[in-house]
Formats: sequence, C-alpha cells, structure tokens
Amino acid sequence: MTTNKKNHGTVLITGASSGIGRELACEFASRAETLVLVARRLDRLEQLRAELLGRYPKLKIVALATDLSDEHEIETLLAKVSEQAGPVDVLVNNAGVGDTALFDRADWVRTRQILRTNILAVAQLTSALVAGMVERRRGGVLNIGSGAGLTVLPNAAAYIGSKYFVNGFSEALRADLAGTAVTVTQVCPGPVASEFDQLAGSPGGMIGTPRIFRITAAQCAREALAGFERGRARVFPGRAYRFLMRALPLFPLWMQRKQAAALALRLRAGQSS
Ligand SMILES: NC(=O)c1ccc[n+]([C@@H]2O[C@H](COP(=O)([O-])OP(=O)(O)OC[C@H]3O[C@@H](n4cnc5c(N)ncnc54)[C@H](OP(=O)(O)O)[C@@H]3O)[C@@H](O)[C@H]2O)c1
Repeated sequence: MTTNKKNHGTVLITGASSGIGRELACEFASRAETLVLVARRLDRLEQLRAELLGRYPKLKIVALATDLSDEHEIETLLAKVSEQAGPVDVLVNNAGVGDTALFDRADWVRTRQILRTNILAVAQLTSALVAGMVERRRGGVLNIGSGAGLTVLPNAAAYIGSKYFVNGFSEALRADLAGTAVTVTQVCPGPVASEFDQLAGSPGGMIGTPRIFRITAAQCAREALAGFERGRARVFPGRAYRFLMRALPLFPLWMQRKQAAALALRLRAGQSS
C-alpha cells in the first residue's frame, strides 16, 4: 500500500517536552525532514529525540533548551535554529502555561510568565520565521490556542486573555497571508490529558469540565495535524467538544457572562470560608 504523506520539510515545535507538543512531534516525525524540538527540559527533548530516531533513522532532529518567557533566549534560539536546521517551514506555537486564581489573588510573577510564554513568544517566533515562509511560498503556522480563548470563564484571566490573543492573532495572520500559500491554523482544544492542569494548579481541570469532553494528547495532536494539512482555519479536537463549541453561538454572551460570574462568586465564597 502506498502512503501519501505530506513532507513538511523543517518543523519547529515549541513545548515538545510533554503533552500535546510531544505528540505533535511524533505525528510530524513521519512527515518531515527535520524536527526542531524546543522546551526548557532538555533531558525530555533528548529522550524524545532518541525515541524518534529509533523509528525514523533518516530524520534530522535538533533539540534546543530554551525558556520562551525570555526574549533574549528566543533570539539565541533563532540563531541556533538558522545555523543547525536552516529555514523553518512549519512553526508550531504550542508551549503554554496556565494558572488557576481569581485575578485579584493571582501572583504577578506567574501572570507575567503566562503572558510572555503564551503571547510574546508566539508573536516573536512568528515574526522571525513567517517572512521566510512567504518568500518561499511554502509552510505554515500551527497555533495551539484554547477553547477558553473563545468563551467567558472565571478563575484564569491571564491565561484566558492570552488565548484570546492567540485566537485574534491567528485569524488576523491568516487573513494577512491570504494568497501566499502559507497556511495558518489555530487549534482550540478543550480538556486534554497532560501535565497542564497539574502545573496550572487545578488537577481536576480548569472548571471541572465533564469527562466526556476530555481527550488524549495523542488524539489532539492527530486532529490538529489533520486540520492543518487540510488548511483549516480552526480545529476543535474531540467529537463531543467540537459539538459543544459549534453550539456555543446559541448561548448569548450575557448568558455566558452570568454563568461565569456565578461560578466566580462560588469560588470566592469557597476560598474565603
Ligand atoms: N491540556 C489542556 O487541557 C489544554 C487545553 C487547551 C489548550 N491547551 C494548550 O495546549 C498547549 C500545550 O499544553 P499541554 O496540555 O500539552 O501542557 P503540558 O503537558 O504542560 O506541556 C506544556 C509544554 O510547554 C512547555 N513550556 C512551558 N513553559 C515554557 C517556557 N517558558 N519555555 C519553553 N517551553 C515551555 C513545557 O516544557 P518545559 O516545561 O520543558 O519547558 C511543555 O513542553 C498549551 O498552549 C496549552 O495552553 C491545553
């Protein structure tokens, strides 16, 4: 049987040390010539590199430890990428961090970390790499946003705001790049099993979303790549979550606001008792 897989050339994936990013690396591995894996935990990236090379010996894999919340580290990363991997065809902005707190109680250092990683790094990497894609008339940007960036939810204002940025940025970038042959796809996952919730301080999920909506990181990555290859503007991975998000316009904003405020009131009361 012949396989008709796309060759995406050189693919840079941020946040490849765990969760969705790790699975995206596994998915892209059979469809790329070079993978550039980026995250802070180099040991995890090296482990993934060894695993993927075992399966795809011809694949070139460059693992680069970088703290994406630091603008200067991103500059150093870009210089290393150009030297060790050459031009990037596909940029996957996946790395992200969350928090769980009413904003008046949120820690500023944590908030700043979220904004730098989820917003500034996405903009800086895209700014540095997208012009080359347009010039070569090839490639694309795959942004991992969140369904939280399309709804009104309490208890994670900086994170949710950062994902509203990813949503607006992806849509506007896609419009800007019309006719250039460069694809821009935004993935808006719901709850995905990964290290994310634990690190964001809410092991049960940001708002305790029902289990029916939860999918694996592998499923999320598979559907993300399928949507990207079809040139989709937006992907909602997982059948139940997709259904929910497509029904969202039926719930007027005032209703979403009211529900979010009621939940915040309950959380505030619970936290102060
Ligand atoms: N899980 C969910 O329910 C869910 C839902 C909607 C959207 N998302 C989005 O999906 C994306 C991936 O999340 P995930 O669920 O796979 O979470 P995860 O397992 O916690 O993975 C997050 C990745 O981001 C990297 N990262 C975090 N801060 C970084 C920094 N300052 N510099 C470099 N890398 C950094 C982490 O690597 P190091 O720690 O090694 O640096 C890790 O590889 C995020 O953008 C998240 O907002 C997740």
